[in-house]
Amino acid sequence: MWGGRFASGPAAIMREITPSIDFDKRLAGEDLAGSRAHCRMLATEGIISKDDGQAILGGLDAIEKEIAAGTFVFKRELEDIHLNIEARLAELIGPAAGRLHTARSRNDQVVTDFRLWVRSACVRADEGLMVLQKALLAQAETHLDTIMPGFTHMQVAQPVTFAHHLMAYVEMFGRDRGRFEDARKRLNESPLGAAALAGTSFAIDRDATAKALGFTRPMRNSMDAISARDFALEYLAACTISAVNLSRLAGELVQWSTPAFGFVRLSDAFTTGSSIMPQKRNPDAAELIRGKTGRVLGDFVALATVVKGLVLTYGTDLQEDKERVFDAADTLELSLAAMAGMIADLTANPQKMLAAAEAGYPTATDLADWVVRVLKKPFREAHHIAGSIVKAAEDKGVTLEKLPLAEMQAIEPAITQDVFAVLSLESSVKSRMSLGGTAPARVKEQVAHWKAAFK
Ligand code: ARG
Repeated sequence: MWGGRFASGPAAIMREITPSIDFDKRLAGEDLAGSRAHCRMLATEGIISKDDGQAILGGLDAIEKEIAAGTFVFKRELEDIHLNIEARLAELIGPAAGRLHTARSRNDQVVTDFRLWVRSACVRADEGLMVLQKALLAQAETHLDTIMPGFTHMQVAQPVTFAHHLMAYVEMFGRDRGRFEDARKRLNESPLGAAALAGTSFAIDRDATAKALGFTRPMRNSMDAISARDFALEYLAACTISAVNLSRLAGELVQWSTPAFGFVRLSDAFTTGSSIMPQKRNPDAAELIRGKTGRVLGDFVALATVVKGLVLTYGTDLQEDKERVFDAADTLELSLAAMAGMIADLTANPQKMLAAAEAGYPTATDLADWVVRVLKKPFREAHHIAGSIVKAAEDKGVTLEKLPLAEMQAIEPAITQDVFAVLSLESSVKSRMSLGGTAPARVKEQVAHWKAAFK
């Protein structure tokens, strides 16, 4: 492609280090779209003839069919997807193929392709997250009244509902979707026409190519257009945060599905057995989702390190951008699909959840609050009284509800029979009516909000 001034061919090792075709063939669809838009614009502007334009478009269609049919031969000696397609075009239509690269460089070509690819990846991530949100929502709707222990420091804190817990993740994944949507909007400007770095002396119409490719506008600065990879970093950052959020849910599933917790049973479809211990049901998918987080963060760190300190504009260092993004996209999409399947398929065990909640004296706060409200004690004193009552119940091996009134009065004589109204887990949950609280009426509002959002 650039033989003009070279006397000898490349060293053998260059054939190993230079090619990107093994991975950038994934940009074939985007490359064809970019070439079509560029070709039509060149013909419309009279930069190439209408006939050459038609011939090029026909050749690109033929190439698209070959790629779809699996008959296109990708050649490593042609380095990358751009040169592979251009060389095949020349085979198919002859010298007119050489006119396609007028007023264009591989530098604006590759980053146009890449922006288009990342744009679709943002949409796919959003969809994958929405499917997961819907699975969580469906489970939440059936467990609005299922009481479980809410934890802080992994200690039983206060009773909550399983629906409340699941809806927390729906919110989290909703923000993840927002990050992908922001990334998509921000990256959706066209670098095509920036050419090598400085623009071109041909009278091209960058608005036309931007519009044809669904970009909102051409990028303002040709050097920025060639150099910028912050869109890929932003996508990877969104993937990383999403993977981190997923890993928390994965961690809960691992814990909840242990026999000791028994809060949920993962379906056979999402567990594996042990080759030696017949009783095991290993939550492999959850563990892998948790484990793959490191890989996605690694992708972000790798690309950030590539771009760091890189002077404007293009350096072949940037060829390292694509594998990191492809890997993160594949990993995240796989994790989202597996998580959605696991959530949809799991069976909760409300008895186990309730037993774990009861064992942890989770209404001690309700008791202290009652002492404040009814006996008008300062909260710190009420906290002390409730603590002593918990200790008494613990010594006796009973729940707060089962501790006789007389034993409470031995600690605080003013306590009356009325206190029992706030000691049950149900009453505690129902009483938490503050906005965003665990009361079923409140959680129902969250469910309603998301149902409307999905319509
Ligand atoms: N394969 C290259 C990449 O992935 C395409 C751009 C090459 N540009 C160049 N001037 N060598 O970034």
